[in-house]
Amino acid sequence: MEGKTAVIVGGAGGLGAATARLMVERGAAAIAIIDVSQEATDKVVATLNELGCQAVGLVGDVTRSEPAHRLFNEAVSQVGPIHVMVNCAGWFPRKPILEITDDEWSTSFDVNVRCTHNMMAAAVTHMKARGEGGRIVNISSVDAFKPHPKNAHYAAMKTAVTSLTKSFALEFAPDQILINSVAPGGIATEKGLAAGWVPEHAAATPLGRAAEPEDIAEMIIFLASSRNRYATGENVIVGGGYVMH
Ligand SMILES: NC(=O)c1ccc[n+]([C@@H]2O[C@H](COP(=O)([O-])OP(=O)(O)OC[C@H]3O[C@@H](n4cnc5c(N)ncnc54)[C@H](O)[C@@H]3O)[C@@H](O)[C@H]2O)c1
Repeated sequence: MEGKTAVIVGGAGGLGAATARLMVERGAAAIAIIDVSQEATDKVVATLNELGCQAVGLVGDVTRSEPAHRLFNEAVSQVGPIHVMVNCAGWFPRKPILEITDDEWSTSFDVNVRCTHNMMAAAVTHMKARGEGGRIVNISSVDAFKPHPKNAHYAAMKTAVTSLTKSFALEFAPDQILINSVAPGGIATEKGLAAGWVPEHAAATPLGRAAEPEDIAEMIIFLASSRNRYATGENVIVGGGYVMH
């Protein structure tokens, strides 16, 4: 990550913030956090600046393409050309399968799929125009690969994220933009812990624990870095053995 600039969408959340911190430790020059939460963004940006990184926060909802493109372009104008983007924005409530409402299906699609699509579209437009390639990492979930009776909408959307990743990866491979997804198992983020299902996930995981955000961030950063020279259109499950293919 030495000298690289990155945009982390949903970067004020548990996984995004851990990824940003690890990127700084690995030498990233500048990071733009795009997130809907002003307070959480301010906190993460302050931490990254204390670590010696040039960090900026851009606050907005990227479920629609206009703000997504505007915020991405704002990131470019503040931190310079972007080498890497990580898409961490997500919405993962649990609900019995027959009780999921129309609005919940729509929100799940908007946050989990549209945010990813909109931000990828903005990033590849920028990266292609620069002609120097790039790296994009999207966040899926083990739930895309193993059903759970209480999050059918989330699982379907995270499957869509892996599909969208492959479509973009194929289209922009000639431009040397390498695009992959990571499917984490249960992560002990603040959100995951508050939802109360981390112990259940840990018990169902062969490694016997939930992931720490840094366990997942390591894989994200490898795929986002110039050390990833040949993987594109892949999904990498980092689930402590919860799903084995
Ligand atoms: N926590 C887990 O156990 C787990 C497991 C597998 C996959 N994931 C995935 O990892 C990612 C991060 O999870 P997390 O635990 O850090 O969650 P989190 O809620 O802490 O982080 C998500 C961030 O996305 C932001 N966000 C939500 N909607 C947005 C929008 N419309 N526009 C801009 N920003 C928006 C939120 O403000 C938040 O800061 C998510 O995609 C989640 O689905 C999480």
